[in-house]
Amino acid sequence: MSAPWKSAEWNLLFRELPRAHRGLARAWWALSVLRALLPAALVIATGALVGAVSAGGRPGLSLALVAATSILILVLSPVHDAVSTNLGAHVGADLHRRLLRAALEPAGIAHLEDPDLADEFTLARDFDLGITGPPIRLCMPFVANGLVELGSGLAAAAILFWYQWWAPLLLVASWTATHRLLRESTVWRSWRSEEVVRAQRHADYAYRMAVDVPAAKELRLFGLGGWTVGRFGRYRRELLDISLQAMRLRERSLLWAALAALAGNGAIVATLAAGALSGRVTLGRLVVFIGAVIGAAVLGIADFDWWFDTAARPPTVVDSLERKMPSFGALPSGAGSARGLPRREIRLREVTFGYRGGSPVLAGVDLSIPAGSSLAIVGQNGAGKTTLAKLLCRLYDPDGGRIEADGIDLRELDIGSWRSRLTTVFQDYVKYELSLRENVAPAGGSDADVEWALRQAGAADLAADSAGGGPGVVPRVGAGGGQGIDTVLSKSYAGGIDLSGGQWQRVALARTMRAVRQGAGVVVLDEPTAQLDVRGEAEIFRRLLDATRDVTTILISHRFSTVRHADRICVLEGGRVVELGTHDELIARGGRYATMFTLQAARFAADSGTPKSDGTEAGADGGSSGALPAGAGLGP
Ligand SMILES: Nc1ncnc2c1ncn2[C@@H]1O[C@H](COP(=O)(O)OP(=O)(O)OP(=O)(O)O)[C@@H](O)[C@H]1O
Ligand SMILES: [Mg+2]
Repeated sequence: MSAPWKSAEWNLLFRELPRAHRGLARAWWALSVLRALLPAALVIATGALVGAVSAGGRPGLSLALVAATSILILVLSPVHDAVSTNLGAHVGADLHRRLLRAALEPAGIAHLEDPDLADEFTLARDFDLGITGPPIRLCMPFVANGLVELGSGLAAAAILFWYQWWAPLLLVASWTATHRLLRESTVWRSWRSEEVVRAQRHADYAYRMAVDVPAAKELRLFGLGGWTVGRFGRYRRELLDISLQAMRLRERSLLWAALAALAGNGAIVATLAAGALSGRVTLGRLVVFIGAVIGAAVLGIADFDWWFDTAARPPTVVDSLERKMPSFGALPSGAGSARGLPRREIRLREVTFGYRGGSPVLAGVDLSIPAGSSLAIVGQNGAGKTTLAKLLCRLYDPDGGRIEADGIDLRELDIGSWRSRLTTVFQDYVKYELSLRENVAPAGGSDADVEWALRQAGAADLAADSAGGGPGVVPRVGAGGGQGIDTVLSKSYAGGIDLSGGQWQRVALARTMRAVRQGAGVVVLDEPTAQLDVRGEAEIFRRLLDATRDVTTILISHRFSTVRHADRICVLEGGRVVELGTHDELIARGGRYATMFTLQAARFAADSGTPKSDGTEAGADGGSSGALPAGAGLGP
C-alpha cells in the first residue's frame, strides 16, 4: 500500500478542486495551511509567555501572540467550514458535468449498453445521493479539518527540532506507524468491488421499481410491494454489512498501535522530564516541547483517511469512466460531407455485427435500398431489425462488411453530417419532458412548422386550443392548460399533461415528418405505428406517404397491414436477408413472408369472424382494411 499522502485517489480529489472553482480552491488551501500552523504558533507563544513570566520579564508581546493565535483558531474554523461546503457543492456540480459529458461524448452508444459501465455510471451517480458515503459537499469540511490536523501534527513535531534533531523523526515515525495500523481498521478498500456494485444495483433497482410509474402500476397489480421493500432492505443491509465489516476495529491493530505510540512518546517525554529536572530544559521550553508532543498526536489518531477516501471516491469513478469512454463508444468519423446522400442507394455489403463481440446478431447482411424507395424489414423478435437500424444511424459500426451511401462507406463520412440526413423513430423513442413544440422540433421551429408536422401525424388536435372533437378525434392537450403547442408533456410540471401511448407515437412521428420537411433524406421507422389504433394507422400511413414521397424510407414493423405497402420487403432471419421482393412477389413465392402474412391474416379473420385466411387485403390489414385506401404505398 502506498503512503496515504501519495494516494492516486486523493490526488484526483485535489486536482478536481481548482477545476471546480479556482478562487474557492485557493482560499481553501490558504486556510488549510494557516489553520495547520496556528496550533504550533500557539504552543510557541504559550512557551514564550511562560518563559517571560518565569524569568520575571515583560509578557506583553507573547501574551498578544497567545491571544491572536487563540482567536484565529476559533474564528477561522467556521470560515473554513463555509468555504469547504461551498467548494464541495462546486465539486459535486463539476463532477456531474464531467459525468454527463462522459456519457454524451462518444458518438456511439456501446458504453451505455455495457452492463459493467452501466454499474459504474450508477456508482458515480450515487455519490450525490449519499448511498455509499456522505455527499461530497458534506465531506469537504471534514477533508479540510483532516488536512489541518495533518499539517498541525507535522508542524507540532517540527518544533521539537529545537529540542533534539531526532525527536521529531521519532515522534512522526511512531505516530505514522500508529496511523497506518489504525487505518487498516477504518479504510474501506472494497468500495468498488463486484459485490458492492451488485448490492447497490439491486437496491437502486428496487427503489426505482417503487417510484417509477410504469413499474409502480405492476407492483400494485401483482402485489409485489412487500417483495420490493424487502429486496431494497436486504441489499441496503448487505451494503452496510460489507462496509462495517471492512471498517471493523481490529484488536491486534489497536494493540500494536498503542505500543508504537507509547514507545515514541515515552522516549521523548522521559528525556524531556530528565532535562527539566537537571535544569537543562527551561520551564518555557518544557511547555513548548510538551505542547508539541501533545499536538503531534493528531497524526496518529485523526480520521482524515476516512474522509479523504470517502471524498476521493466520486472523482475516482468519474475519472475512471472518462478514461474508458474512448475505447467504448468512440466511433471514427471521416471528413466527407453527406449532403444530398443517398442519391442512388444505401447498400449493405456482408454486414456482420455482434454486441460486445458476442455471437453475431447480423451475419452477412447484403441489401440494396434504392434512394427514394421504401423498404420494409420484417422478422421475428430478436432477428436484428433494430440492430440494423442502429448500424444505419451509426450508433454502432459493423464488425465486418460495410454500409455505403452511393458507394461511400459511412465511416468515411462526417458522422454529424450523415446523421443530419437521417430521421428516426426508434422502438423505444424518447418522450421528452418538454413542450409539445420541443417534442416535435427539439432544435426549435416555427408554430406553422410544428402545426404542419402534427397535422401530418394525425395529431393536430393535440395542439388545438379551442373546443372540438368527436368520435375518433384525439383529445387535445391544450384543453386543460390552454397552452397549445407550448403545453409541457409531463405531469411533473404545472399545467403539464401526459399522453396516451398512441398519442405519444403520433408526436414522435410528427418529429420525423418535420425532419423530412427540413431536408432529411433517410427515414428509419422502427415499429412506428405499433401503438396506434387501426383507423389511426391507416390515416397516418396516407400522410406518411405524402410526406416521405421522395425520401428513402426503412420501415420495421410486425404489422403486415403497414408492411405490405412498402416498395420492397425483406425478411431477416438468422442474421441474414432470406427473402426480398414486393408484397405480391413474396406472397407468390410462398416462403417465410407468405407464412407470416397468412398467419396474421388468419388470426384477424378468426378475431373478426370473417372467413378469410388467404392473405387477401381484408385479413392482412389486421382490421384496417376499411380505412386504408387501396393501393396506398410508401414509396413514389
Ligand atoms: N444492447 C444490446 N446488448 C446486447 N445484446 C443486444 C442488445 N440489443 C439487442 N441485443 C440482442 O440482439 C439481438 C437482436 O436484437 P434486436 O433488438 O435487433 O431485435 P429485433 O429484430 O429488433 O427484435 P424485436 O422485433 O423484438 O424488436 C437479440 O438477440 C437481442 O437480445
Ligand atoms: Mg426491435
